[in-house]
Amino acid sequence: MAPNSRRLFPTATLLLTFFFFSLTGAQSFIGVNYGQVADNLPSPESTVQLLLSTTVAKIRLYGADPAILRALAGTRISAVIGTGNGDIPSLAGDPSAASSWVAANVLPFLPSTSISAVSVGNEALSSGDPSIASLLLPAMQNLRSALAASPLASDIKVSSVHSMAVLAQSEPPSAGAFHSDLAPSLHAVLDFLNTTGSPFMINPYPFFAYRSDPRPETLAFCLFQPNIGRFDAGTRITYTNMFDAQIDAIRSALNAAGFPGVDVVVAETGWPYRGDPDEVGTNIENARAFNGNLIAHLRSMAGTPLMPGKSVETYIFALYDEDLKPGPTSERSFGLFRTDLTMTYDAGLTATSAAAPSASPAGRWCVPKEEATDQELQENLDYACGQASVDCRPIQPGGMCYEPNTVRSHAAYAMNQLFQVSGRNTWNCDFRQSAMLTATDPTRSPRADPARPSLARHAKLCEVFAGLIRKAFCVGRFLTGFNARRRSQGQTFPIRILAVLTNAGEMVYFFDHFLWLSASLIPPSPGG
Ligand SMILES: *[C@@H]1O[C@H](CO)[C@@H](O)[C@H](O)[C@H]1NC(C)=O
Repeated sequence: MAPNSRRLFPTATLLLTFFFFSLTGAQSFIGVNYGQVADNLPSPESTVQLLLSTTVAKIRLYGADPAILRALAGTRISAVIGTGNGDIPSLAGDPSAASSWVAANVLPFLPSTSISAVSVGNEALSSGDPSIASLLLPAMQNLRSALAASPLASDIKVSSVHSMAVLAQSEPPSAGAFHSDLAPSLHAVLDFLNTTGSPFMINPYPFFAYRSDPRPETLAFCLFQPNIGRFDAGTRITYTNMFDAQIDAIRSALNAAGFPGVDVVVAETGWPYRGDPDEVGTNIENARAFNGNLIAHLRSMAGTPLMPGKSVETYIFALYDEDLKPGPTSERSFGLFRTDLTMTYDAGLTATSAAAPSASPAGRWCVPKEEATDQELQENLDYACGQASVDCRPIQPGGMCYEPNTVRSHAAYAMNQLFQVSGRNTWNCDFRQSAMLTATDPTRSPRADPARPSLARHAKLCEVFAGLIRKAFCVGRFLTGFNARRRSQGQTFPIRILAVLTNAGEMVYFFDHFLWLSASLIPPSPGG
């Protein structure tokens, strides 16, 4: 390739990639919970500035703090607000109580603050108060009517948040079913959600699943790390992480109850970064692995096995620690950020860490460590190929990258593919310490056998081929997402122009990456 174009392309790419990300930097499916049981929280304005520096697009409040709702005015961040469990009896008993609640907590902030939903109570069905179960539906109905009475508020959804305890069974996921004693009240609520197009909101915590079964293989399954997976005989699907398994258990329970059309929203999930000495798994490494891998998983748009191809809207618990919460230390240690606005650890939420992966189209590879055993590599291989976003056909018999047919070679391919699609963060190349990052193209490193240049050439071809598959996947994913966005915003003229420009940007990026990959197939010219 001519030296000039080699310099031009990265510049154009960088500009267009930046443009692309400035449009889609916030990710509509990533939210955080803002619990306020604390006496050291930053000001609402600083909190909103902090959120705007991340890819978080949504915040969930447990109440309707007017200062926060005001600070959100005019920003891209939308809010889910909530009523307390204690409000449920009055909201259920009296339509005018619902109107007053809406007049005090919703209407003053519209339309400048975007409020997407009101959650009636929090885990009310598992609150231990049986009288609340029968009041939940009338409370939701009254709130719905009160919102519908105001044109500005009529699009706000009404739902309620449930704990995983509403399930009588969650394993295997296909056997997911609601508790039969909750059936009458839950069915009425589901009917309401179905009729009003509102989501079912649930709090799945792989952390609690690990706590009740603290084996190393369960930890890996809960942290989205390589593991042998869990086979669901009902669907013949092997699950590779607890988050997907829990969500699909909810999906199955909703389907079995007759509501396949009701969407699932994850109202809370998270992992504490510290705990008391007797609290297993509570440390920074696990919290970072869970939240970092969760975010990468959501960004990959792989979805769950039963709901492939789109990411479930997910609110991570929590924005900050809540220092006044009772209970074990872990209860006060879920914060992604410290109250001085610094990160507790890097979960990959900042706007720059989202843009970084595509801003540097190439240059980092994830490769097996020299000392990794074949058994470790086989597990990594199975795990990586079990992910919907990794295409392992090239390393199957007859595939372009099948030779050399060794576990190490196949695992190297699959591990690097997973690394490339899950965000190219350092922690995406851990594989339980059996992998490492390298800046040197492994196929051109001194270790590549100089006596067999054809092998290196072949490995390079593999990377080109796999890179193209990845690009095709990204372009498809982007177009789907953008078209959905375009439709939802009423197809105004500027949006259509932006669609054309960003698609053009993706294509330039695509060809630049292709040229970059193929350039190294051609022997470097002297001085080039
Ligand atoms: C759910 O809603 C859809 C359309 O809105 C309707 O066709 C379906 O019958 C409803 N399901 C139940 C179980 O009511």
